[in-house]
Amino acid sequence: MNKKVLTVEWEVYDRKEDLPTSDAQLLDAAFEAVKNAYAPYSGFSVGAALLLENGDVVKGNNQENAAYPSGLCAERVAFFWAGANHPGKKIKAVAITALSEKVNTDHPITPCGACRQSMLEYEMNQGENITIIMQGSTGKIYRMEGVKNLLPLYFNEEGLKS
Ligand code: THU
Repeated sequence: MNKKVLTVEWEVYDRKEDLPTSDAQLLDAAFEAVKNAYAPYSGFSVGAALLLENGDVVKGNNQENAAYPSGLCAERVAFFWAGANHPGKKIKAVAITALSEKVNTDHPITPCGACRQSMLEYEMNQGENITIIMQGSTGKIYRMEGVKNLLPLYFNEEGLKS
């Protein structure tokens, strides 16, 4: 038997002002994006903002549906928009935030598993890490380099090759 250990590193900031400037600006964009979330069923609004290599910022937010599984998370709305409208443009960073009147959001919001898998596809295709900046409506900020660090033992296209 072999035991393997994976270590994940991320940075924790107390204040947005301590982040690299472009990350702080992207977080501001995520705070703008969260305002337009359509989340009448969960009451949990999420905003995501992507920084593209040409400086463009793409925003997304969760879009829910009366047929619950038909809705989509903020991260995938933003990434799929970028893929559809800015094909081939590298994604440098994503900032994610959340807002709710029902639950406490004073801690960083980390993406769900399906979003991690979707974001990883873009990261692997572009061959360059995506920085992930995560904060709730207030509180500490997490900053991590690379979606692959959010998804240990990930599945990717290599698994489909014969
Ligand atoms: N949600 C996101 O938009 N991103 C995440 O990473 C986690 C969850 C949304 C989905 C749903 O609309 C609401 O938050 C509650 O799960």
